[in-house]
Amino acid sequence: MRVLSGIQPSGQLHIGNYFGSIRPNLEFQGKADQSFFFIADLHALTTVQDGAQLREAREDIVLDYLACGFDPSKSIIYFQSQVPEHTELMWILSTLTPMGLLERAVSYKEKVEKGIPASAGLFTYPVLMAADILLYQADRVPVGKDQKQHLEMTRDIAIKFNNAYGETFALPEPVIREEVAVVPGVDGQKMSKSYGNTIPLFGDEKAAKKAIMGIVTDSRGMNDPKDPDACVIYQIHRLFLSPAEQKSLADEYRSGLPYGEGKKKLLQTYLDYFAPMRERREEYAKKPDAVRKILDAGAAKAKALAEETMGKVRKAVGLS
Ligand code: ADP
Ligand code: TRP
Repeated sequence: MRVLSGIQPSGQLHIGNYFGSIRPNLEFQGKADQSFFFIADLHALTTVQDGAQLREAREDIVLDYLACGFDPSKSIIYFQSQVPEHTELMWILSTLTPMGLLERAVSYKEKVEKGIPASAGLFTYPVLMAADILLYQADRVPVGKDQKQHLEMTRDIAIKFNNAYGETFALPEPVIREEVAVVPGVDGQKMSKSYGNTIPLFGDEKAAKKAIMGIVTDSRGMNDPKDPDACVIYQIHRLFLSPAEQKSLADEYRSGLPYGEGKKKLLQTYLDYFAPMRERREEYAKKPDAVRKILDAGAAKAKALAEETMGKVRKAVGLS
């Protein structure tokens, strides 16, 4: 089994990214035959058009990944832009991708509605994503629910290619954990970098505290019974807990745990949970040369595997 996923370096990571993407990926580490975790820096160019900002975000996200527990002896970690085969395959796939398929992409429409310029790159974003996945013949792709359509498009594109040129690509399956499919933000909507409603994964602890203490609540009286299913604090807090702990916290809410107390408990859980990762992050931050070596080694491994697929693709389409 080959597992692959990526995140764009387009802003500070939040706990929605952690629970929706990073943690489910880490669960495969050591179990999959190969696990790939890459930084989708080419994708980020569709929204980050400031060189200094992208450079900083790339460096940060690498440290974030390593801090969270991606182990370079078990996972292949690299920047997408270090393996030019991604863009080569993207071009070939784009010649088979129907315009209609891309026009139906919800994430493109949402981004344009939010004011992101409608560039050709933004429009063909799903084709690059298909290339990211198909290049390594990945069969499992752990992502949040918002990426489901992109995975369906990847499969459609792979089927088109296989039909046109003969069986070349494995069809990838998304891995979407229902319980973490949509992590709510502090306002109760989906947590997202672009909604300003995030609880940051790392960075200033004060900012995390401010975000947690600002989680929206309803107007129930302080000691009134609360409904954990409708309580954003609980919905976030449960992600950190075992089933038994979730049940006992839900019971506390039902017996009237004041929201303010619930927030303090969540803050403590958050700090304790991420403390060892924060420490590891600081260690890696002190060793930029070692980090660079990890990425270079990851890119070399990825490139060798990418070349295997590209050899077949170039042959199939008549480019070799
Ligand atoms: P954002 O919406 O903050 O820009 P990205 O689109 O960069 O996040 O998402 C990176 C990864 O994290 C994707 O796999 C995505 O599905 C996952 N993810 C992002 N936000 C959430 C969330 N609120 N709940 C669950 N998963 C999420
Ligand atoms: N589109 C994904 C996101 O916004 C990032 C991504 C790019 C990705 N290529 C990928 C995720 C390949 C999984 C597999 O989150």
